[in-house]
Amino acid sequence: MQQHPPRSHAIHSRVRSYSRAGGRLSEAQAEALAALAPRYVVDVPRRDAVRTVAPGFRLDPEALFGHQGWGRPLVVEIGSGSGEAVLAHAAAHPGVDHLAVEVWETAIARLVASIHRQGLRNARVVPADGAELLATALPVGCASEVWVFFPDPWRKARHRKRRLVNAAFADSVARVLRPGGVWRLATDWADYAWQMRDVLEGASALPEGIEADSTGPYFRYDDAGARPDLGAGSAVAGDAGNGVDPGSPSGARGGWSERFAGRAMTRFEQRGIDEGRTIRDLTAVRTEEQWIPAARPTALERLDNGAPGLFAPEGLTD
Ligand SMILES: C[S@@+](CC[C@H](N)C(=O)[O-])C[C@H]1O[C@@H](n2cnc3c(N)ncnc32)[C@H](O)[C@@H]1O
Repeated sequence: MQQHPPRSHAIHSRVRSYSRAGGRLSEAQAEALAALAPRYVVDVPRRDAVRTVAPGFRLDPEALFGHQGWGRPLVVEIGSGSGEAVLAHAAAHPGVDHLAVEVWETAIARLVASIHRQGLRNARVVPADGAELLATALPVGCASEVWVFFPDPWRKARHRKRRLVNAAFADSVARVLRPGGVWRLATDWADYAWQMRDVLEGASALPEGIEADSTGPYFRYDDAGARPDLGAGSAVAGDAGNGVDPGSPSGARGGWSERFAGRAMTRFEQRGIDEGRTIRDLTAVRTEEQWIPAARPTALERLDNGAPGLFAPEGLTD
């Protein structure tokens, strides 16, 4: 029987990008996770609820991987699921460190089992809300890449505010990426791709004629306007999300990158393909612009400002 911690209204009503953090592990899975966690899972002090991050917590990746001062490349994936992409990359690139950030217990157990089975020394699991982790816990400029692949689409209009990728999240990605670092995104849902495109444009220096709304800019969005075939060209009325891009009916905006060659096929990408959806990749490159805490709400404040009733709390403990 799980113990439910007391929850304030603020915690209940917080907007989260995930619907579940707990999972029903088999006895064997739970035992394996408990035995392996000290080696592969980062111990995250909580702010006030499961998967939250204590504001004072600092995670030093170099110390974690034992490479203090070596400046090794670091890939941070938010929402790794079972880890097909991040662990394949870790296996293929032993000189690059990898953090798989995930909230769902079942996925965390799978990640840990895979890291152990494959003997990976360059991958660790961070059981935390990635938005909070990037906002405060990771050092400024620590990452060479941040990945967000096939995030939960939150398709209903009233759920859109739960989408992970928004302006506040972009600010947190800018915070942790080093100059020249790359933010890679992919989705199989057209309207989420357009939202991602808008977020990247808002945080980027753009080709002439396209306005950005940030003072930064923290990103270069080199692919703005690229692959217009994935905009209007793929329009099929009434199909599974491949409609005309409302922000760019002509396809002049868009900014879709070529598929990231380093991304192993995941269950979610395969499902999108099987169901006839177009896969869109997006890429933004971090500029030299120094990151300064933004005047707009931080990711943490955004999380605390959720509309009541959006999130059905699960009453979980760690
Ligand atoms: C649709 S799955 C995609 C998984 C994986 N990227 C793939 O392509 O197979 C999205 C994952 O993101 C996780 N997730 C959602 N919000 C998150 C957050 N704020 N921090 C960390 N993980 C999150 C979910 O638990 C889920 O496992």
